[in-house]
Amino acid sequence: MSMNLITVLYLIASICFIQALKGLSHPTTSRRGNLFGMLGMGLAVLTTVALIYKLGAELATAGIGYVIVGLLVGGSAGSIMAKRVEMTKMPELVAFMHSMIGLAAVFIAVAAVVEPQSLGIVASINDPIPVGNRLELFLGAAIGAITFSGSVIAFGKLSGKYKFRLFQGAPVQFPGQHMINLVIGIAILVLGVTYMFTGNLVAFSLMLIFAFVIGVLIIIPIGGADMPVVVSMLNSYSGWAAAGIGFSLNNSMLIIAGSLVGSSGAILSYIMCRAMNRSFFNVILGGFGSSADAGPAAGSSEQRPVKSGSADDAAFLLSNADSVIIVPGYGLAVARAQHALMELVEKLTHNGVTVKYAIHPVAGRMPGHMNVLLAEAEVPYEQVFEMEDINAEFGQTDVVLVLGANDVVNPAAKNDPKSPIAGMPILEAFKAKTIIVNKRSMASGYAGLDNELFYLDKTMMVFGDAKKVIEDMVKAVD
Ligand code: TAP
Repeated sequence: MSMNLITVLYLIASICFIQALKGLSHPTTSRRGNLFGMLGMGLAVLTTVALIYKLGAELATAGIGYVIVGLLVGGSAGSIMAKRVEMTKMPELVAFMHSMIGLAAVFIAVAAVVEPQSLGIVASINDPIPVGNRLELFLGAAIGAITFSGSVIAFGKLSGKYKFRLFQGAPVQFPGQHMINLVIGIAILVLGVTYMFTGNLVAFSLMLIFAFVIGVLIIIPIGGADMPVVVSMLNSYSGWAAAGIGFSLNNSMLIIAGSLVGSSGAILSYIMCRAMNRSFFNVILGGFGSSADAGPAAGSSEQRPVKSGSADDAAFLLSNADSVIIVPGYGLAVARAQHALMELVEKLTHNGVTVKYAIHPVAGRMPGHMNVLLAEAEVPYEQVFEMEDINAEFGQTDVVLVLGANDVVNPAAKNDPKSPIAGMPILEAFKAKTIIVNKRSMASGYAGLDNELFYLDKTMMVFGDAKKVIEDMVKAVD
């Protein structure tokens, strides 16, 4: 296979990736986007294998066997994990994948630093690595290390099942944190530049250790409701790490794919920050979503009276309303209640009730979580509204049905300047004439905060698993 053909195939794979991103930007075209993504990745992998085979034959080395074993092991592990993973565990899986990309970048950079001739960076082992390549290797390795250790912490925080303090949802803060981060950041820069100009391996190794440490330190103070920014930020880092290594290996595919991931992740981080009304730098530099009083995602211990009712009561209220807005949240995904919900909405619509869905940009545990959940139940897109398009309607709505959502409807974001989520735009469910909230208990949501909405006179709590409660509502509406 000639180098020209390889370049053309890489170019076609890159076009597929761009089409994939375009397709994934809307639920109606997302399947097509996924197909393009798979096609592009398949083509990129096969072309790379052919390239390795060609280089191996030219250099008379037998590396291709290792590559195929690696592909089989990695590919099988990936498909088993993807098949088994539950929808609610996707964010952890994504964080895990980011950590693997970061680690791969570090391994490639270390291999390139130690044996540059085997990767074609220099002609012989005695030749020094050019300064430009050293810069790329320093950047790729540093970003890769930060992505790896940061993603490991994000994985623990998102899974919420480990006792280890750093893996708790609550932010970890200590005196002098910013100063320590700054000093380590400067040390990484100084060591990286030293390696760049001198090729000193001790400087490179120390830089790598500090990068692993700073990855942990920048993620631990972020917690609660700000985790969406972390997920998208690490997504972006993993892309830049791959792009950095692509420059060192002179591999155009890695550069293009890495830049696409890096820039789309950066745009997503910006969108998430805007959705949370946060400054990107505040989140990154200091666990903005935290305060000493903000508890972790634990249950609220406060015992205050609330009005509660049954699924039958809720069905009665819904059937007698003219307009209903449904607010889906993480609990709806946990209960896998989207199909039952679709049935309920069909019945209400059939009875003349106008029903709309309101989606908060950070509802659930990953960007677009609720859109995907509703699309799975084939909810018509024209019934689904983004926060800015529907917020003005809550005031004129008869009933708001909050299903497994909590933080995204917490009025504290608007009313309490001291709240850790102060300033975050919310779905203004509290403005509706009647509010029905379904959840299993009075436990708090991801940000670990009590929610005033539950205690309002016009709010009725319906306790129970969302799927069971909605199925009971369907029977009652019948
Ligand atoms: P949350 O605030 O996490 O609240 C979910 C609620 O669902 C909980 O209060 C829980 O209460 C209830 N629940 C759990 N299982 C249930 C079930 N089987 N049936 C009924 N209810 C159930 O969810 P949200 O309102 O969607 O907000 C999302 C939060 O996650 C935000 O703080 C956001 O910042 C954060 N986050 C988002 C992302 C992205 S990218 N979307 C990523 C990481 C973190 P009970 O236990 O009492 O049932």
